[in-house]
Amino acid sequence: MSTTATLASLTDSDRMADPNWWRQAAVYQIYPRSFSDSNGDGLGDIKGITAKVPYLKELGIDAVWLSPFYPSALADGGYDVDDYRNVDPRLGTLEDFDEMAAALHQAGIKLIVDIVPNHSSNRHEWFQEALKSPKGSAARDRYIFRDGRGENGELPPSDWDSVFGGPAWERVTEPDGAPGQWYMHIFAKEQPDLNWANREIRDDFLKTLRFWSDRGVDGFRIDVAHALTKDMAEPLPSKAQLQTKYNTGVDGFVDGSHPYWDRDEVHEIYAEWRQLFNEYNPPRTAVAEAWVHPDRRARYASPEGLGQAFNFDLLQADFDAEQFRTIITKNLGEASASGASSTWVFSNHDVVRHATRYGLPLAEAADQAEIMAGQAGKKWLLDGGKLEDVDVELGLRRARAASLLMFALPGSAYLYQGEELGLQEVGDIADSERQDPTFFRNKGVDVGRDGCRVPLPWENNGSSFGFGEATAHLPQPEWFGGFAVAAQDGVEGSTLELYRAALALRSQLQAAEELEWIPTADSDVLHFVRPGGWHTVTNFGTEPVELPAGTVVVSSGPLDLGDGSTGGKLPGATTAWIVA
Ligand code: NOJ
Repeated sequence: MSTTATLASLTDSDRMADPNWWRQAAVYQIYPRSFSDSNGDGLGDIKGITAKVPYLKELGIDAVWLSPFYPSALADGGYDVDDYRNVDPRLGTLEDFDEMAAALHQAGIKLIVDIVPNHSSNRHEWFQEALKSPKGSAARDRYIFRDGRGENGELPPSDWDSVFGGPAWERVTEPDGAPGQWYMHIFAKEQPDLNWANREIRDDFLKTLRFWSDRGVDGFRIDVAHALTKDMAEPLPSKAQLQTKYNTGVDGFVDGSHPYWDRDEVHEIYAEWRQLFNEYNPPRTAVAEAWVHPDRRARYASPEGLGQAFNFDLLQADFDAEQFRTIITKNLGEASASGASSTWVFSNHDVVRHATRYGLPLAEAADQAEIMAGQAGKKWLLDGGKLEDVDVELGLRRARAASLLMFALPGSAYLYQGEELGLQEVGDIADSERQDPTFFRNKGVDVGRDGCRVPLPWENNGSSFGFGEATAHLPQPEWFGGFAVAAQDGVEGSTLELYRAALALRSQLQAAEELEWIPTADSDVLHFVRPGGWHTVTNFGTEPVELPAGTVVVSSGPLDLGDGSTGGKLPGATTAWIVA
């Protein structure tokens, strides 16, 4: 299919065969342990997902992205994988997986799975073998083992910090009981980094990609895609040396010379993966999770590489017309330069939900222009994460406006389970109930990401609000029932019905990957048009503004359409789609 055709004319089976299906897909992220629990153990599972395929179909998404469902001790919510080619027995079996994939495909929904190549779990058979094997052995060479510094190797090989806080190195006890070498872990200590200079690792991941592709998986989301290759030449630079050289943070690593973030050689790996993806029909797709300088994102998104990369710019922005416009323009330009399509995302399993972020006061920031909704979310969590400190109505109103704008943008829209319900973050989970390693490794500095991972409310009340028979593995607050699917299903004006309407229209209106900005009289208002005359107008301000001429086909909130003699009005924090 050419990308200039409307998708409306395509049947489900055309869409499934289309090699470009991903370019403008609406992709729904499922965090499997918190989606739906079919067997009453408090943990969401694969059969739970299969049972909800009709719900997903009615929502109108094009693909599901499944966060890790592999065997795992859950030291990092499943991103600590024990076995890359299996299903966590608590979540089901490979047969259950096949059944789910078939049900999704039957419903015309593609399936993307998460691949976690930077690190395995410490329970992976390779790591267990490495622990039992001597220094210098082939088993240790699958990971990044080094001798410690200091007289007796008692100091870590470098002073680097892990992303989750604390040191990036952990010392092992050698098989003879003596204190031994250290291994590197950019994330939790239960997530030892794999050594991608080792051919065996590369071959094994090719096997994994083939394993899931052969089972009908349509695409892959690549976790920490920018960290796989490392320059571990000694002496390792100190933290201070790295900070001096790259003093602008992760976004500042522009030249590929950092020892582990965004090195140029990582693309050799993805070129190999691309060859494998292209053996399939339609080719398997991939999207990189790569927190790199925006100028280097295109390398991950190139058609010779993974093909698409997440852009987290909107997720980090405030609800602000100028920020949105700049980000959108820049990303569309980058995407067309790389040959990829753009990606858009407001919420995922790592950040405070956008319906909450947008309801937080930004006023306390020393420099208002500097603070972004993403940072405000973190601050709110640290301040106790009380829902009473959130302007829930405003947050939801803005979130709906932002999401409706996102659905009109060229490129793929990635949504996170629960955002279609306007679900709020659970900010005040008791310390004793928290699961995220970020909380344990950063006591008092970061409470972590559990609040967006609380199991979904399906019913207004009852046992775990319809999530399952048992108490959910993360506590659901009483107010969850008000956001339940049952409370919104068929209810005019509900967030769920807004998402359904918008996604259905999107697939009818979707056009070439272009937009044209229409000048507006008010700097708080953005207006663009897609080929075919599909207009989107968002009022980021508080005062109503004139609606442009045309027929409003959907709006994120009520409009004031006047008496017909004057033009209608678009209230503050509202988006409308208009067909001229
Ligand atoms: C990014 C994932 O999104 C996050 O949840 C995880 O903790 C880290 N990668 C480490 O795998």
